[in-house]
Amino acid sequence: MVVNMRGGLVTWGASSVQFGFFMQTGAEVAWAQSNSFLSDPAAMKILLSGITTVTAAATVLGLVAWLIHAHLYHLTGLGLQAIRELFMGGYRARYTLLSVPNKSWLASVDLRTVRRTAIAVSIFVSLLFLELTRPAIPYDHISGALPLTLMDAFTKKAVTVEGCRNPNTNFPLWTAGKTSSERWARPAWLPQNPPSGFSRWDISPEERAEKDNPSWYLCSSGKEPGFYDPKKDPLKISNLGGEIYEPLQKAFKEHSVEIDNVVLLTLESGRKELFPAQQGTPMFDALLESHKKEKRDEAIDHLAKLTPVAQMLTGEYATDSKGDKVDLSHATWQDTAEEGMGGLNVRGALTGSSLTFKSILGSHCGVNPLPVDMLEETALEIYQPCLPQLFELFNEVKSPAPPAMPEAIEARSDDSEAVKYPWKSVFMQSITEDYDRQDVLNKNMGFENKVVKKTLTRARQGSKYAPKGQEINYFGYAETELKPYVQDLFEEAANNKTRIFLSHVTSTTHHPWNTPDDFKMEFYMGNEGAVNHNLMNNYLNTQRFVDNWLGDIMNMLDETGIANTTLVVVVGDHGQAFGEDNKDMTGTYENGHISNFRVPLVFRHPHMPRIDINANATSLSIIPTILDLLVQSESLDAHDAEIASALLPEYQGQSLIRPFVPAIGDLSPKTHSNNARSPRPTHKHQDAQTQRVWNFGLINAGGSMISVTSADTPYRLILPIRESFEYVFTHLDEDPGELHPMKTWKLSEIVDEVTKKFGEDAASWAEDAEQVGKWYVNEQRRIWGYREK
Ligand SMILES: *[C@@H]1O[C@H](CO)[C@@H](O)[C@H](O)[C@H]1NC(C)=O
Ligand SMILES: *[C@@H]1O[C@H](CO)[C@@H](O)[C@H](O)[C@H]1NC(C)=O
Ligand SMILES: *[C@@H]1O[C@H](CO)[C@@H](O)[C@H](O)[C@H]1NC(C)=O
Ligand SMILES: *[C@@H]1O[C@H](CO)[C@@H](O)[C@H](O)[C@H]1NC(C)=O
Repeated sequence: MVVNMRGGLVTWGASSVQFGFFMQTGAEVAWAQSNSFLSDPAAMKILLSGITTVTAAATVLGLVAWLIHAHLYHLTGLGLQAIRELFMGGYRARYTLLSVPNKSWLASVDLRTVRRTAIAVSIFVSLLFLELTRPAIPYDHISGALPLTLMDAFTKKAVTVEGCRNPNTNFPLWTAGKTSSERWARPAWLPQNPPSGFSRWDISPEERAEKDNPSWYLCSSGKEPGFYDPKKDPLKISNLGGEIYEPLQKAFKEHSVEIDNVVLLTLESGRKELFPAQQGTPMFDALLESHKKEKRDEAIDHLAKLTPVAQMLTGEYATDSKGDKVDLSHATWQDTAEEGMGGLNVRGALTGSSLTFKSILGSHCGVNPLPVDMLEETALEIYQPCLPQLFELFNEVKSPAPPAMPEAIEARSDDSEAVKYPWKSVFMQSITEDYDRQDVLNKNMGFENKVVKKTLTRARQGSKYAPKGQEINYFGYAETELKPYVQDLFEEAANNKTRIFLSHVTSTTHHPWNTPDDFKMEFYMGNEGAVNHNLMNNYLNTQRFVDNWLGDIMNMLDETGIANTTLVVVVGDHGQAFGEDNKDMTGTYENGHISNFRVPLVFRHPHMPRIDINANATSLSIIPTILDLLVQSESLDAHDAEIASALLPEYQGQSLIRPFVPAIGDLSPKTHSNNARSPRPTHKHQDAQTQRVWNFGLINAGGSMISVTSADTPYRLILPIRESFEYVFTHLDEDPGELHPMKTWKLSEIVDEVTKKFGEDAASWAEDAEQVGKWYVNEQRRIWGYREK
């Protein structure tokens, strides 16, 4: 009975979570992932944050069960009895044929044992029945028998990586697969003991002697070595041969751009449509539709004032209902840059993953994340040096004594003093870093200094470093609690001969979109439409909260006097889909909707001319752009500049201070369809000399599906990489909000539909996208040295 009750409770609880999760997000709970949830307090809190819908589901299930349980119990009893009859009857019948069995033996058989066996058999039979009668592919995952899906949680370990690129072992990875004729030389710029992140170039002479040994190929199934080689990357298109934008070139010539510090701000759930909030996006239209027709002008005027700091940082000034520029005097910061100055603003940027820390790998390390669930990358070596490691390398080549300069490099006479100062990299966020191994990721990216929730809670009570308010969500505090830490760091940069790299991730804009109690909530949403607008209203308030906070950061830069020498990069980690965007599915989890992928991307410097860039780039471009900027603005000494220039072409992304190249060669339909069937894009690149920039986006939690776009077309394909997910095709020019996606279970069906609706070109693009996408998934596993257990 106790066992039965416990079993019943588990089933009830699990069903409630399943229903509740589905009602809240439109996605299913992956119980296999929940094993890491179960052992991860921060993650458990996320699951529990949906407690109201789960409770609702539990109540409904409980009520229904209570109403029908007597009836069901009776029916089940009858069923079990029938099975017992069959079992016993059959037993008797069989023996009657041979000899009369010993009656008293039969009587002595423990009836309880029989009943247990019968129950076990009937459970087994029903599960078998459920498994066997599950509908085929389209609907199978919505009908998984609960006990079986639950069992996943306890059998499959979510942490399965046993890679050959373990960051803890100092195993040199340079294998290059080169023949002896392609002798590899250790780069001259690489110091004797480089910081972690450079193992690709780091190899001793003895190890080099061994390089033809097949054991080098330990990372791969075939002959390909497991690491990234830009020269062999068939998808890489470099734009480094292009001219720098002219106004920028002019500024560099006048030596007016000085970059001593870099601040990289990652906006949690930061949607491009709200950076800044302005008319003309599908999202803005959806917000307006929540208001009655006669109230819409008022709503426009209100929403256009939501994110004034974002307007100044991007130079995209919102207009009100009369078409006039919005008054920004209410903002927490006023732009100090002169008219026409402010830096680069990118429109069209997409994130590399809708899972936060996979996305951060792209922006901080210039790598594509691994297409598997959760942060398995933490068990492997990141295949490119990350920003803190680059800055650490610059420090190392300067200490203890300046290196002997290679003959060719002359010290520049006009170097500012600051180019000789050491860099200090600091990571800051006001929430926990214990979720899904983020602490390990920070370490692997090279952050030795960090301020996280632990730092805040451990600060001496009453000191300026202790939090002023309560925790605001299941992760921790509002980001404004970081103010004294940011202030100190900026002062260190201003007064202590230190160059800083600050990486800060915001947090208030994360689900459940709570703000501190003393923050005045406003009402941005009306009541029209079928969707409940509370969540969106809370989200919009957090956007205003973070806009104020960005203003605070900009003020601190101004006040400490480092604003003119600091490059501020702003990027969203991913977007966030709400019911207003798509009724069927909300959130990022297993949701490929485009509103999870459009992010702001800004390179702000008050002495750089304002340049609007239309490029369908991704956060892969951040490192190349920063390196290019540091070199071109002569913000590095000659030796560092040499290193930065050598590393620049090693990254996959393009530099955004030069015109973005979305495609090269002839992409006419003919060549195009010839290539559609080539299994690897290599051939296309080499034979036809045509190539487009393919952008990939991993969909949270990473291993179920990827979004494939190419920078030169408006098409978008969601490619399932695990069964039980659909193919989705959209045309973003005709349907920018993805309100009418094409969904099918087979690629051939998508291709037929696309041909009918958008023509041959679009159809062969879709075929190409599928090929390239599949290749990419395997290629990423190879590059990362990932092996599934
Ligand atoms: C039947 O079983 C009883 C007790 O188990 C035993 O004493 C008896 O000898 C058996 N009779 C036969 C015919 O096997
Ligand atoms: C200033 O820099 C020195 C040397 O890098 C360091 O030891 C010291 O702690 C720094 N002071 C402050 C206030 O950051
Ligand atoms: C920053 O540059 C502006 C010119 O753009 C100048 O007016 C201002 O004085 C500079 N600020 C500092 C602290 O040097
Ligand atoms: C970028 O993508 C959009 C669709 O989101 C498309 O309309 C546009 O043409 C693309 N930009 C370029 C420069 O190709």
